[in-house]
Amino acid sequence: MHNEQTQVQIERVEQAMVKLSVRPSRKICEAMRGLVEEAQHEIEEQDAKGPILDLVIVAGMQRIEHYEIAAYGTGVALAKALGEKEVADLLSETLEEEKQTDLKLTEVTQKAIIPEALAGEQEEGDGRRGGGRSGGRRKAA
Ligand SMILES: [Fe+2]
Repeated sequence: MHNEQTQVQIERVEQAMVKLSVRPSRKICEAMRGLVEEAQHEIEEQDAKGPILDLVIVAGMQRIEHYEIAAYGTGVALAKALGEKEVADLLSETLEEEKQTDLKLTEVTQKAIIPEALAGEQEEGDGRRGGGRSGGRRKAA
């Protein structure tokens, strides 16, 4: 779903550039490439599976979303400052989608991944140490 959304977002940027009489071109974003590579490395280096790996994946995804939010936020602010309302509206739509994606990732992390990770830690603790240490740590958190 986010891929389809990304295609629409590209089209909005192209529309915005047409409105600004700037010729669209494709250029690699080095910062984004770095974020993607970093996320891939962290996933590859992760020995844990299940919810811990999910946390690593979501953390990488959120760093990417935050970068997009920063970029589109700046674009919206500039367009508004220049009085380019249609451009600001186009970029605002994308900015809002990026924020929603970030919120969904936070929600799934808080509601599913972290509870699952803590439950797994509890089970591990129960099996090896009778749950004492693990349970105590959770109470402290
Ligand atoms: Fe995104």
